[in-house]
Order: sequence, then structure tokens, then C-alpha cells
Amino acid sequence: MSKPESSDTQFFNSFSLVLGILIFLAIVLFALARNIGKDTQSEDVLLDPLHIKDVHQNIEPFAHEAIAGQDNSALATVSAPQTAAAADVPATGELAFNKVCTACHGTGVNGAPKVGDKAAWAPRLAQGKDTLYQHAIAGKGAMPPKGGTAWPDATIRMTVDYMVSLGK
Ligand code: HEC
Repeated sequence: MSKPESSDTQFFNSFSLVLGILIFLAIVLFALARNIGKDTQSEDVLLDPLHIKDVHQNIEPFAHEAIAGQDNSALATVSAPQTAAAADVPATGELAFNKVCTACHGTGVNGAPKVGDKAAWAPRLAQGKDTLYQHAIAGKGAMPPKGGTAWPDATIRMTVDYMVSLGK
């Protein structure tokens, strides 16, 4: 009765070997997966504000969801560029000046009266504010109409006021 015993032992041995190899493979794959995922899956990364910001930035272009019954107007800026153009109008004369007019009037390029230069502004101020407004809106010599912008007249007047105030 030694023969069947030895075949049993042989089966048991090769079965253990296969089982051992499979368990070893499973452990290797598990370790590999952990290692690959550690950059994006670990808890400190998921809670890292920089990582969260990255994710938000990556999905930002298409992460817009309109919700029925709510104000979805913020989403409109994505599809309606004219809203962006309207939002481009600076709220104050100072912002407007710093955005566009300073390019010429900050340095006095091309004969533009430099802000704060009292001698350059005195004869212009003598024309009266309305003339200044009109020249700023319609243009004058090398001064482009509205400084090259499409801002409303009121914004230009506000900006002229700001420029004049810098000379006082
Ligand atoms: C491309 C350069 C340039 C930009 C940009 C520019 N200006 Fe001028 N501006 C000039 C020049 C040059 C003059 C002088 C024109 C002249 O007297 O012949 C001038 C003159 C003026 C005057 C005096 C007009 C007068 O009656 O003497 C005002 C006011 C003025 N600019 C306002 C503005 C405002 C407001 C902005 C921005 C919205 C602006 N400018 C942007 C070049 C520029």
C-alpha cells in the first residue's frame, strides 16, 4: 500500500507549490497596485488642498451643471462671450486707468499728457472738463477714441476724473 500513498504525496506537493506561487503572485500584484496608486489614492494626497485644486482645475472646463429651478446664469458665461466682454468694463476710474490708459499716460509716450504732470495738464484743464471728456471719448490726435476700448462713455468720464485727480 505504499504506491497510492506516494502519488497522494506527489499531488499534495505540486498542489502546495501551485498554491504557493499563486499566493505569492497575488501579494506581488497587490504591492504593485498599492505602489502605483500611492500618488493619487493615499489619504494625505486626497486631502491635500493643492491636489484638490489641481483636480478642480482639470475638470473646470466641463464641470458645469445646470440645475433645474435654480439660478444658472453663472453657467452662461461659458457659452456667451458677450457676457465676458460686458464684465470687462472696469468698475472704477482707477481700474480703468491702470488697465489701459496708463500705457500712454503713465509714461507720457507720444506726447500724451503724463498723469501728475501739472504743466502738461494745466492748458488742457483750462478747456474745461467737458472738452476733456469729449476728447477722451472721441479721440484727439494720437489719443485713440476711448483709449482704444469699447467702454461706455460713463467709464471714460470716470477715468478722466481719476487722471485729473492724480494731478492735484
Ligand atoms: C495709445 C496711447 C494712449 C492711450 C492708450 C490713451 N491715451 Fe489719452 N492721450 C494720448 C495722447 C497722445 C494724448 C494727447 C493728444 C493731443 O493733445 O493731441 C492724449 C490725451 C488725453 C486727454 C486730454 C485731451 C485734451 O483735451 O487735451 C485725456 C483726457 C485722455 N487722453 C484720456 C485718456 C483716457 C481716459 C484713456 C484710457 C481710457 C486714455 N487717454 C488712453 C494717448 C493715449
